[in-house]
Amino acid sequence: MKYRMYDLIEKKKHKIPLTLDEIQEMILAYTAGEIPDYQMSAFLMAVWFQGMTDEELSHFTLAMAASGDELDLSRVSGVKLDKHSTGGVGDKTTLVVAPVLAALGVPTAKMSGRGLGFTGGTVDKLESIPGLRSELTEEEFLRILRTVGFVDAAQTKELAPADKLLYALRDVTATIDSIPLIASSIMSKKLASGADKIVLDVKCGSGAFMRDISSAKALAGQMIRIGEHTEREITAVISDMDQPLGRAVGNALEVMESVEVLKGGGEERLVSLCIALAVEMLQLSDKARPTREEAEEAVKEILQNGAALDRFRAYVREAGGDPAALDRTQVETKYRKEILSDREGYLFSCDAGEVGLVSVLLGAGRAKKGDPIDPESGILLKKKLGDHIGKGEVLAEIFTNREDVLETAEERLLRAYLIKEEPPEAKGVIIDILHSEPI
Ligand code: URA
Repeated sequence: MKYRMYDLIEKKKHKIPLTLDEIQEMILAYTAGEIPDYQMSAFLMAVWFQGMTDEELSHFTLAMAASGDELDLSRVSGVKLDKHSTGGVGDKTTLVVAPVLAALGVPTAKMSGRGLGFTGGTVDKLESIPGLRSELTEEEFLRILRTVGFVDAAQTKELAPADKLLYALRDVTATIDSIPLIASSIMSKKLASGADKIVLDVKCGSGAFMRDISSAKALAGQMIRIGEHTEREITAVISDMDQPLGRAVGNALEVMESVEVLKGGGEERLVSLCIALAVEMLQLSDKARPTREEAEEAVKEILQNGAALDRFRAYVREAGGDPAALDRTQVETKYRKEILSDREGYLFSCDAGEVGLVSVLLGAGRAKKGDPIDPESGILLKKKLGDHIGKGEVLAEIFTNREDVLETAEERLLRAYLIKEEPPEAKGVIIDILHSEPI
């Protein structure tokens, strides 16, 4: 590279913004293996302390997006929308929102991840459907997007390899928890996957990266500003993750719960968030910007009349899966256990991250990249925060094929909930909605 990495670190250490050329050269050279990890680690730590200007961060994000393959969606007509969640527990909203938008004639092109640690991944949920393939070729991706109206595939292309390398380095150098670095990491993948407009679901609470509202808002604001600099219109919905979303945590269980919502039913907070996200996507779409009320009416009608469920069935068929799987109402595991409350009171608070980790223990997730998962295992929560529970009443039901984890899972699940004599203050699932300037 034509710059000395030492000088770039020195500049950042003194909070002097890097130029576009310096950033592009640095990302290119790092991806090519020409900058050693110890120098890049020093640079990342300088960013952790000094931050980046909005302009610098946009250059950094675009350089990461351009470091590998970029999906070209121009062959699909209309505005292409994407939706991205920063990661939570029991978050199956994509399985509802994408078919709803497709039924309303708004194409949604999405590349999703697999679950890791306490957070689940949409690809794992979809792959619990027998036969369904998430690793699609670009041709298949575009064909399904055109014929079904939405696509949600695994990231097979080498999208933003610079981010992959930097993320792994951040993970071992205590630089994950930097808002500019998280924002640019997420947005680089969004930009590389080709969408014009993006709705971000920024999770906040005990089952999310961002534990408090002010950091969730700061992250949302930073991603919106990157969108403004890179000409992508963004809406960020900040949503509560102080308890799992809905009642199901686990892949096949979450598909069943999504179908329930697509049939017009479902747990109240999950339904509210799905509607809010779909309304925001509809507002960003080409559809002559309906009012919020009109958009909400349209989404509710689609959930009642079965049109979105038809889109979901069409997607499963096109992606090689068995649509009959969408009619299931039970999972099949060797062990099933009801978890009974050991006291009476109100469910006051929950460590949602711990509930996610219990689902991993049962087999529903992976502790490290590449671990196999058991699509049938998971948790069904019978009570939500604020509900009253009697001693000996069922708090949850667990499903697993691993006999040796039953006792630990029960203990940890009971400890994840705080039960008190008085109910907690009621809290809605939507905390705030932030918008970028319209483009
Ligand atoms: N998700 C990402 O893709 N990157 C981060 O840095 C954090 C969450």
